[in-house]
Amino acid sequence: MKKVVLAYSGGLDTSCIIPWLKDRGYDIIAVIGDVGQGDDFQKVKAKAIKSGASKVYCLNLQQELIENYAFPALKAGALYEGKYNLACALSRPLIAYHQVMIARKEKADGMVHGCTGKGNDQVRFEVTYRLMEPKMEVLAPVRVWEFKSRDEEIDYAKSKGVPVDASKKKPYSIDTNVYGRAMESGVLEDPMVEPPADIFYMTVAPEKAPNKPEYVEIEFTKGIPTGVNGKKMKPLELVLELNKIAGRNGVGRVDMIENRLVGIKSRELYENPAGTVLHLAIREIESLVLDRDSLRFKEALSQKYAELIYNGLWWTPLKAQMDSFFDKYHENTTGLARIKLYKGHAMVVGRKSPHSRYSEKMATYGKGDTFDQSLAEGFIKLWTVPFQKHS
Ligand code: ARG
Repeated sequence: MKKVVLAYSGGLDTSCIIPWLKDRGYDIIAVIGDVGQGDDFQKVKAKAIKSGASKVYCLNLQQELIENYAFPALKAGALYEGKYNLACALSRPLIAYHQVMIARKEKADGMVHGCTGKGNDQVRFEVTYRLMEPKMEVLAPVRVWEFKSRDEEIDYAKSKGVPVDASKKKPYSIDTNVYGRAMESGVLEDPMVEPPADIFYMTVAPEKAPNKPEYVEIEFTKGIPTGVNGKKMKPLELVLELNKIAGRNGVGRVDMIENRLVGIKSRELYENPAGTVLHLAIREIESLVLDRDSLRFKEALSQKYAELIYNGLWWTPLKAQMDSFFDKYHENTTGLARIKLYKGHAMVVGRKSPHSRYSEKMATYGKGDTFDQSLAEGFIKLWTVPFQKHS
C-alpha cells in the first residue's frame, strides 16, 4: 500500500478524497493546519478517521503564519492588485511545508491536496511539494474524479460512511485564517450583486459601527508591529487585537475582481481588519523615515513581491532576496502611527519616529525657517537645461 499525506480541512472535498483514494489502494494520513479558521478540531480529527484516514495530525500554525509569513509580506507592502493582503495565499506554503515535514517523518510516498484545477491554491501547494520533495508523487483527486456536482459528492460521501452535513446548502466558498477571510462563488459570482450582510464575520457593517470615532496607535520596531495603544504585544496577539478594534469599526472589507494565475477573473470578497490598519500604519512611518528614492524604489518591489506570493512562488530565490532587501529597508522603521477608525474608514492622523527625516524648521512657512530660498533660482535654471534649445 502506498502511503500519502493529505492536507485535510474537514470539508466535503477533502473528506471524499479519503475513501476515494483508499479504494485505489492508498493509505491516507490527514494533516490539519490550524491557521485560525475557528473549527472544532476534535470533531475534524474524528471526521478524518471516520472517513477512513489511518492517522491524523493537527498542527497549530497561527503564530507561524503571522510571524514568518504575514509580517514579511507586510514589510514588503505586498497587496495583490493593490487590494488583497494575501491572507489565504500566505497560508498555503506554510501548510504545504508542514505537510512535507510529516510526509518525511512518516516515510510517505506522496502528497495530496483538495484544490480544484481552476484556482491558485493548487499551484501554491504543488510548487512547495515539488521544491521540497521533487520525487514524491502528487495527487489532486478533485481535478480528475468523476463527480460533477456537490450533490454527487454528497451521495458518494453517504455511500462511504463519511459524515456529511447535507442539510446545509453551501452558499459560498470561504477560506479563513487569523490574518483574513475570503469569500467567493454563489450570488457573489455576479459582479454587480452587493455582498449579502451575512457573509461577513470579522467586521461589522460600516453603517452599524459606533457613531463615535475610535483611535488606535500602532507601534513598529524595524518594520515589525510590536505594540497597540501603548501595550507591547507578540505578533499573533497583536493581530487578534487589531482584528477586534478595526473589525468593530467596520474596517477591512474589500470587494474586488482579481486575476487568477490561470487567467480567470474572479470576484472575491475579503475581510482583513488587522491587515488593513497595519499596511496603512507601516507606510506612514516609512514616509517619515525613508528618503524619496528608497520609497519610490520599494513601490515596484511591493507589486512584484505580491505577485510572487499570489502565484505560489514563496519558496524561491527572488522572494528570499527581496526579504533581505526589506530587512535593510526597514532598519529605521521604528515609531508609531495614530489611526482614526470610523464607520468603515481608517485614516492616518499622526505619526512619529526617533529616525524621522521630517524637519519642521525646513517645512515651515512660519517663523524660524532654515531653508535658504535664494538657492531655488539657480536650481530651477539647471533643472530646465536639458529641455532647452542650445546653440
Ligand atoms: N482568491 C484568493 C487567493 O487566491 C482566495 C482563495 C480562497 N478563496 C476562497 N473563497 N475559498 O488567494
